[in-house]
Amino acid sequence: MQHHTFDACIVGAGGAGLFAALEASRSASVAVISKLYPTRSHTGAAQGGIGAALGNMEEDHWEWHMYDTVKGSDYLGDQDAIEILCREAIDVVYQLEHMGLPFSRTPDGRIAQRPFGGHTRNFGEGPVRRACYAADRTGHMILQTLYQQCIKNQVTFFDEFQVLDVLIEDGRAAGVVALEIRTGELHVFHSKAVLFATGGAGRMYRVTSNAHALTGDGMALVLRRGLPLEDMEFFQFHPTGIRKMGILITEGARGEGGILRNNKGERFMERYAPTLLDLAPRDLVSRAIYSEIREGRGINGEDYVHLDLTHLDARIIEERLPDITDFVRTYLGLDPVKDPIPVQPTAHYIMGGIPTDVDGRVVRDEKNTPVPGLYAAGEVACVSVHGANRLGTNSLLDILVFGRRAGAHIRQFVQEADLVPLPKEPEGRVRAEIERLLTQEGRENAAAIRKDLQDGMTEHVSVFRTEEGLLTMRERLKELRERYQHVRLGDRGRQYNTDLLETLELGFLLDVAEATVESALARKESRGAHYREDYPERDDANFLKHTFFFRKEDGSFELRYKPVTITRFQPEARKY
Ligand code: FUM
Repeated sequence: MQHHTFDACIVGAGGAGLFAALEASRSASVAVISKLYPTRSHTGAAQGGIGAALGNMEEDHWEWHMYDTVKGSDYLGDQDAIEILCREAIDVVYQLEHMGLPFSRTPDGRIAQRPFGGHTRNFGEGPVRRACYAADRTGHMILQTLYQQCIKNQVTFFDEFQVLDVLIEDGRAAGVVALEIRTGELHVFHSKAVLFATGGAGRMYRVTSNAHALTGDGMALVLRRGLPLEDMEFFQFHPTGIRKMGILITEGARGEGGILRNNKGERFMERYAPTLLDLAPRDLVSRAIYSEIREGRGINGEDYVHLDLTHLDARIIEERLPDITDFVRTYLGLDPVKDPIPVQPTAHYIMGGIPTDVDGRVVRDEKNTPVPGLYAAGEVACVSVHGANRLGTNSLLDILVFGRRAGAHIRQFVQEADLVPLPKEPEGRVRAEIERLLTQEGRENAAAIRKDLQDGMTEHVSVFRTEEGLLTMRERLKELRERYQHVRLGDRGRQYNTDLLETLELGFLLDVAEATVESALARKESRGAHYREDYPERDDANFLKHTFFFRKEDGSFELRYKPVTITRFQPEARKY
């Protein structure tokens, strides 16, 4: 067992983790611990842009951005946090520009901007060009830029280390325990501050835009330490994943003029969102696609529709959307310049997560009591700026604004805080679980359990939900948990044991799925991405509130609720 001491440990090396590390490392010693090589983090898959009201192409204001984000969230987003998001967006984009991020440019050299779903001018009048982009590789460019800066700032990286426990002593963060994947050795990281930036859990679903690494690690680890998860019922399906594969086709394609069509060639969004059409928010567009499919207007009567770019200038497609053009050519053998692209909604993003305040401090309850030294930022966290439905481009913005803020807070915190003494055997829990998995003689296979989880979540906890389906999934999860206790690993070695890692990740997914199902069962209304066919209306009188899910030591759970912070915009009917 190896022991390390740092002022701060950042778990996860996507945009949120790297920005937090960069900020904190201005005066603190910082370790970034990641199960991947940092520039392979999932931020790199974010394509279309960062929302910021720069006003480079036309008039725009952060207040318009704020209005769109609040309305897009179906009024569940906390407006104090959303105001920070939209105000600081402008500065954070220029900071990245000054670090050297190669944004696409206007002819006169300013950062180019394009329209994206739900972003409007003058409080909903029509689409506005607000997404700042680097072709369709915006996330990738963010990763490269921030990683370079972290290296310059002497951040210490522990690549391919899987964090398996967070140490909390006397109610304060004390460090983490990690498995070095290459050797199988355990490492204890003792630190004054710990930040989780481990991303989402799209791998609960069969068809997802998420990389294999997105298994809800950070969420499950804090849940296992008695801390809550907030608003887990809200899971976003991005309307345009490549059929069956789920690979993202950026909303930027519709921003550049792409049109969704059914089997009759109709631009069906005219019926669902007459003002914003194909650029309506994602919850609405995904439901529209499934409604078309259910009513027999999927292509060839099957479960997909077409994204049509064929009317666009070939130069726009090649220059502004090079990656998705390449994906379609490579994976489908089609050419987006000439052929419509077969798409279907793909599991994309969790709006919920580890509850935090606007400085990234994790809170332990619905009264906002902070856990000193524990932080979260990015998709793993719930600030909450996305409420019930996130607008496209606001996730890159979220990781940047709140990653930076969390890093700045950590920098202050570690100046004043002491290291919390560690318990006698800090790695004990992790060691016991690994030994159990490596030695037990079970009959169950982790891949089979994962497939059943993904099939069940896809069938019952997807774009449309019902009480019956959710109850079915609750029972299925109990069975899957029981089977998980009897898993037998094929590989019992210590070094680079991916069988062990995937089994541990499956355990995380099961925890996150339970939080999702139970939170969804209790929310008997439809709001944003949570659409209950048995309760099709939004119910502000009873459900304008955040869900807090707690798992107790005896395996039972508890739900509590917290009011939404409303400052400027009162809830209204959501029309597009
Ligand atoms: O469509 C996209 O490029 C995805 C962006 C996002 O999820 O914000």
